[in-house]
Amino acid sequence: MRAMMIHGPDFDGVRLNEVPVPVPGPHEVRIRMRAATLNYRDLTRVWLFKPGAAPFVLLSCGCGEVEAVGDAVTRFKVGDRVAPTFFPDWLGGPQDNALLKRNLGNTVPGTASEYMVVGEQAAVHAPATLGDLEVATLPCAALTAWRSLFCVRATRPGDVVLLLGTGGVSIAALQLAKAAGAVTIITSSSDAKLARARALGADLTINYRTTPQWAQRVRELTGGAGADVVLDVAGGETTAQAAEALRSGGTMANIGLVAGERGKSSGRQDIDHPFIRVGSRADFENMNRAIVANRIRPVIDEVFELEELGRAMKVLSEGRVFGKIGIRIR
Ligand SMILES: NC(=O)c1ccc[n+]([C@@H]2O[C@H](COP(=O)([O-])OP(=O)(O)OC[C@H]3O[C@@H](n4cnc5c(N)ncnc54)[C@H](OP(=O)(O)O)[C@@H]3O)[C@@H](O)[C@H]2O)c1
Repeated sequence: MRAMMIHGPDFDGVRLNEVPVPVPGPHEVRIRMRAATLNYRDLTRVWLFKPGAAPFVLLSCGCGEVEAVGDAVTRFKVGDRVAPTFFPDWLGGPQDNALLKRNLGNTVPGTASEYMVVGEQAAVHAPATLGDLEVATLPCAALTAWRSLFCVRATRPGDVVLLLGTGGVSIAALQLAKAAGAVTIITSSSDAKLARARALGADLTINYRTTPQWAQRVRELTGGAGADVVLDVAGGETTAQAAEALRSGGTMANIGLVAGERGKSSGRQDIDHPFIRVGSRADFENMNRAIVANRIRPVIDEVFELEELGRAMKVLSEGRVFGKIGIRIR
């Protein structure tokens, strides 16, 4: 079967390999993958390339059809459409580092292949309202947004949700927050992307390039109060401004590092700083119910073929993308 594996520390090192089709054990299912999506973390697998770990199958997010099941499998049958979970061992309950060691496209083979085998506990049924590429946007980016908004806090109608940039996590969060009746403020380096965000329902927008003191602008837009929650996907120097934009008692979901180091202290003692690690299988299933009930359609900006994964990763690294990049697996 075809699998896209990493061989070197640049996007040309992401290459097609022919490898044996994996055979499921008694409690495992084999999935014929149909779609995958990229996340920023996949770029870091290239930038922080570890020769000792290569080659391995990239990507954490995908969707496909169960085409073989082990003898003891009860959760799925042949023909079910499924998405593998990001952390195969985190089924539910609180975040526990012991359950996070195995994660797709990093410590276990990822979704960038024609077939993959996972334990029957490590997949969820795909929401019937979504196409394969749309389902493939959910396991990491959307679930991270869901967990930040509805698991580590309870975002309520009328809450002001601040989102940074228009990448995969932020756009999924925009859709989920709007569905929950929140007021959304989103930032971007691009006015064209902000226009697209408004078309998706963003209430207020700020260009963080032309308005470098964007936290102050958030305060003005909220009558001085500040936002209730911010999803900090940027880290670095951005974290201090993200905290400045929050009201006392607000929540800063500590998620990412596109602008620097993750997890820098904001210096504020009067806000929550939950450290987010995607989400559990139970969180994923809860989110899927909300996606179906609210008719949410994930945003896919560009689609590439499996063999074009290296080129797709380069496009993501250039910051051109709004929402997600999809990978079609024929
Ligand atoms: N902790 C977790 O569980 C978890 C899960 C998922 C992702 N993450 C992390 O979260 C981050 C975002 O992931 P993603 O997949 O959504 O990335 P992505 O799709 O590649 O989006 C990145 C976006 O970040 C925006 N950006 C860049 N520099 C910025 C800055 N200085 N201030 C504000 N926005 C900026 C850009 O938006 P514009 O083009 O609109 O300016 C860019 O499109 C990554 O660091 C990723 O590793 C963490």
